[in-house]
Amino acid sequence: MSRILVLNGPNLGRLGTREPDVYGSFTLEDLQKTLDAASGPIEVVVRQTDSEPELMSWLFEAVDTSTPVILNPAAFTHYSYALRDAVAQVTKAGVPLIEVHISNPHAREEFRHTSVISAVATGVIAGFGQDSYLLALAQLTRSA
Ligand code: DQA
Repeated sequence: MSRILVLNGPNLGRLGTREPDVYGSFTLEDLQKTLDAASGPIEVVVRQTDSEPELMSWLFEAVDTSTPVILNPAAFTHYSYALRDAVAQVTKAGVPLIEVHISNPHAREEFRHTSVISAVATGVIAGFGQDSYLLALAQLTRSA
């Protein structure tokens, strides 16, 4: 494994200013730096989109290039069957994909308690702020 995709869904481009009481004050740029510092020789590619089709196209890229994924599906977590079907293509191809959340959705509003993604993800890490991504990176690199 030489590369990991870190894919972020809607509203996560607003990290740093969006509800800092819930999501902390780190930005996606900070996240890229933090993951770069922890990834050794592995290239970490952080991306964000508000678009479901674009996020799906990146998952197809992961399948076609066998690139492990750290995915924060954001609000798509709770209702996007299209994203779920794209995630299933990744994991059924034997490519690991870890679902991450900055907050702990289970401790929040009821609509956040359901993930349509988790059942087809390799695993789930939630509730540790920016460290959710670092923990996912540690897992992907230890099983590499
Ligand atoms: C989130 C949790 C989701 O419920 C929410 O819609 C997000 C962020 C998280 O990282 O805690 O946008 O995925």
